Formats: sequence, C-alpha cells, structure tokens
Amino acid sequence: EDIFGPERKNSKGINMNILSESTPFFAELDKYKDVTWNAGPLVNGTTLTGETREVVSPFDTDRFVGNIAFADEQAVELAFASAQAAFPAWCNTPVEVRTNALFKLADLLEEHREELIALCTREAGKSIQDGIDEVREAVDFCRYYAVNARKMMEKPTLLPGPTGERNQLFLEGRGIFICISPWNFPLAIFLGQVTAALAVGNTVIAKPAEQTSIVGYRATQLAHEAGIPKEVLQFLPGTGATVGAAITSDERIAGVCFTGSTATAKQINRTLAMREGPIIPIIAETGGQNAMVVDSTSQPEQVVNDVVSSSFTSAGQRCSALRVLFLQEDIADRVLDLMKGAMDELTIGDPHFIKTDVGPVIDATAAANLNAHIEHIKQVGKLIKQVELPAGTENGHYVAPTAVEIDSIRVLEKEHFGPILHVIRYKSSELERVIEEINSTNFGLTLGIHSRNEAYALKLAAKIRAGNVYINRNQIGAVVGVQPFGGQGLSGTGPKAGGPHYLTRFITEKTHTNNI
Ligand code: NAD
Ligand code: ALA
Repeated sequence: EDIFGPERKNSKGINMNILSESTPFFAELDKYKDVTWNAGPLVNGTTLTGETREVVSPFDTDRFVGNIAFADEQAVELAFASAQAAFPAWCNTPVEVRTNALFKLADLLEEHREELIALCTREAGKSIQDGIDEVREAVDFCRYYAVNARKMMEKPTLLPGPTGERNQLFLEGRGIFICISPWNFPLAIFLGQVTAALAVGNTVIAKPAEQTSIVGYRATQLAHEAGIPKEVLQFLPGTGATVGAAITSDERIAGVCFTGSTATAKQINRTLAMREGPIIPIIAETGGQNAMVVDSTSQPEQVVNDVVSSSFTSAGQRCSALRVLFLQEDIADRVLDLMKGAMDELTIGDPHFIKTDVGPVIDATAAANLNAHIEHIKQVGKLIKQVELPAGTENGHYVAPTAVEIDSIRVLEKEHFGPILHVIRYKSSELERVIEEINSTNFGLTLGIHSRNEAYALKLAAKIRAGNVYINRNQIGAVVGVQPFGGQGLSGTGPKAGGPHYLTRFITEKTHTNNI
C-alpha cells in the first residue's frame, strides 16, 4: 500500500560506503560545526527576546551552541489568543491545502538535513547516524500524517438513511492542541506530534524539552516557511514547571499530546483534571522497563549483536532501549562472554565521528543519576562489565556502558534512561516466572525475543504486555508506517505514533442528519 503518497517511500538515508554520497554530506555538515543560533519563543512567527540562557554541547561543555530565551507569561497569553482566533479558519481550510504544507515541510527538512543533524549532535549529543535517522523519521511523519489525514477527511462518511434522511459523519480538528516533547528525539517527536495535530485541523502550541529548544525553534521556522500559518503554530520554549504547567492548565485547550516520562504524564493528567473547561483527550507516550527474553535455541552471535545495539545505541537514551535481558541458563555464559568482548569494541566519544557508537547523555543531572544507579546496582548484583571511558570525554556528560547481573527485575524501581543493561538468568522450567516478572513492572513498551522455537516466541509475545514486540532482531528504531510505535500500561495511552489510528485522537466527530 502506498502510505506516503504518490511516488513516495520512507525518507532516504545516506550510504556511507558510497563516497559520492558521503563526501558531500560530510562537507555540508562541516559548515555547521561552529555556527551558533539565537532562539526564543516564536509567537505569530516573531522571535521574542527575553532573559536568555546559554546552550552548550553535552559532549563538551566548553562548546557553545547558541542562546535560548524562554517564554514568559505575556508570550504564553499572546500565543493562546492568536491560536484560538486562528482555529476556525484553519479547521475549515481544505485538508488538501493543510497537508500540502506538510509535504512541503518534509521537502524542506530534507533540504536542511545537514543543519538539523548538526543541531541534533551539538545540542542533544546525538551521533551522526542517530541524527540522520532523526531527520528521516521527521520527514516520514510529515508525509505519513498528511496522506492519512487526506484519506480520513477528504470526504465525509455517508451513513445509512433508512427513513430517507441524509446522514453523514464529518471529522474535524478539536481546537488548540498542546504538544509537549522530550529531548531524546528533539526533531522527530517534536514534529511528529505537531504535524499530526495540524494535519487534521487543530492549531498548535508546541513546547519542546528545555534541553533541546533550538532544534524545535528551527523546526517551527521551517514549518512556517512551508506554509503553516504563523498564528496556527506557536512555539513556546521553557521548563516543564513554568511553561509546561501554564499551557496544560489553561481552560482554552482542546487536547494534549505528550511524550516523556510516566511521572510527568501523570502530573499533566492531574493538571488537566483540576482545570476549568471541557474534558479533553491526552495522548501520553511514556517510558518502559523493556526486556529481551533469550532461549537456548538462539544464535549467540546474533543475540549479542542485538543486545548491544538495543542497550547502548543513543547511549541507551531511547524509550525503546533494552533494560533487562533474560538469559536461559544453558546459553547465558556463552552470550555474556561474547557480550563482554563486544562491549570492549564500543567506540565511546565525540558524536561527530561516524565511528562513535556511544555518545554522551543529555546533561549533568542525568549523568549523576545514572552513575549513582550503577554504583548502587553493583552492590545489589554482580558486575559483568563496565567499559572504561576513554581520554577526551572528561568535558562531556559521559556514562560508561555497564552490564550488571541481578536476581530479579523487582530490584529496579524505575526506568534508568542510559547505557545500563541488567541481566537475569532463568531456568527453562521458569518461563512463567519470567513472564510474571516482566508484567509486574506494569510498563509495556518494547519486548525483544530471541528463539528459533516459534511456539515459544509466540507464547511470550502473547503473554507479555508490550506495545512493540521484536523477534530475532534488535528492539529499537521503529519505522513510521512500518512499526507503529507506542506502549501499554504505564508506557502510554496509545494510539501508536506512525500508525494508521494515530490521528483519530486529535479529531472530533460530527454527525449531520439532513432532511432538506
Ligand atoms: P520529561 O517527562 O522530564 O519531560 C518531557 C517534557 O515534559 C519536557 O518538554 C518537559 O519540559 C515537560 N514537562 C515536565 N514537567 C512538566 C509539567 N509539569 N507540565 C507540563 N510539561 C512538563 O521526560 P524527558 O526526560 O524529556 O524524556 C525522557 C523520557 O521520555 C523517558 O522516560 C522516555 O522513556 C520517554 N520517552 C518516551 C517515548 C515514547 O514514545 N514512549 C519516546 C521518547 C521518550
Ligand atoms: N521510536 C523510537 C524507537 O523505536 C523510540 O527506537
């Protein structure tokens, strides 16, 4: 099925083995290595000034990226007033016109690919490969939601009219949608939320994570350049406690799309319940305590490859990342031996180098929390391997990739969002215990399974709560339209991002019964 529109496929990557592709890419990327940006709230398309903060790179805190001004109360009020006034016209704009702007935005993202990758690396510490994938995912979201909105909204659904009435079901935007995103996908998730809300006729107030406001600022500028009216998309950078709390407590909002931690999702839910105004939907995509279960029929080399990529890619800062590996005891020693060798081969350091496997974590607080967890869990369990941080990482927020053997998933009280893998051995007679332990976390985001026994794999897939199950591969890197992404239980409300039902939660329905 053609899910991206005529002639279109998922956005293209860069083949690093073909010099005619990689050389111009790196030459263009290099142009942004010392560029700095001045960003702030974009209200009706104007960049507002105010008290600014300096942004530095997570991989080297001496490297200046730019300045960001956070939104104040006046900016918030202006953004709300304009977004509300702009709603009727945007909602009544034909879906084809609205989505033309999203197709144009996808093209603009591809044109500005190197600048956006440079920003993802310099502001968020992403590796070049992660930056490339980030832009591709953002492009895919624009096109996928544009195509889906057209399919759903171009014509009303004609309903039966048994008494001669003409019955029709119309889909419409809801009003002002609040989009709040995390720092770990500062472009893809930021734009995924925003483009879904815009495609179906909502106006949007977008708040990026405070750590990655400049990426969000450039994405918003490109959306305006693509034809999204400036009043329709408002950009309000700031902290969760100030701007986040202000925009979610406003009675004018018609829906919230949130991606981030489970704790913040619950806080927003409480804020929504306390405010005046209508009852509104919240889409919350949150964290996980993701497991992989490996049985003795698996292929150890493949398991290790997938474990290492699932645990340590993006320095473990993916909601999908593997946190707890369950190894059947007959295969455990072999897998762990190979894994220690593979961890020794990880290249840790400056994310600008294409060979870097593990870059920094986002900030000093994250690094301190992760290091504290490593020290704690080493006492509770048994250290398998802690990779030594190489020279040159002292100025950044690096955390050493670490694997620790523990007895039970219950010793982990929360998600640890970094390059830390926990390993649990199990006997073949203990499969029910494994299932029960994983489900006891009440999360349900990704699940990895390695087995050559299909009945075994399908039993685990059926009995373990998870939104995305991956059998005999790694468990990160869901592709828009191919692996719709999102969790269950504490991991989120659904519907799945990049899936055919995502837009439904951004929409309201109206039935016309016509007797003229
Ligand atoms: P976070 O919850 O700290 O912050 C997310 C966003 O919420 C930020 O923009 C923040 O400013 C805002 N926020 C914080 N407090 C708020 C409040 N009281 N009101 C309104 N907004 C508020 O999460 P994070 O540290 O930025 O991101 C990491 C988390 O995101 C991890 O738990 C990860 O698993 C999760 N995540 C989930 C998915 C998914 O699709 N399920 C994807 C990426 C990240
Ligand atoms: N969608 C992202 C992944 O699958 C989080 O890794």
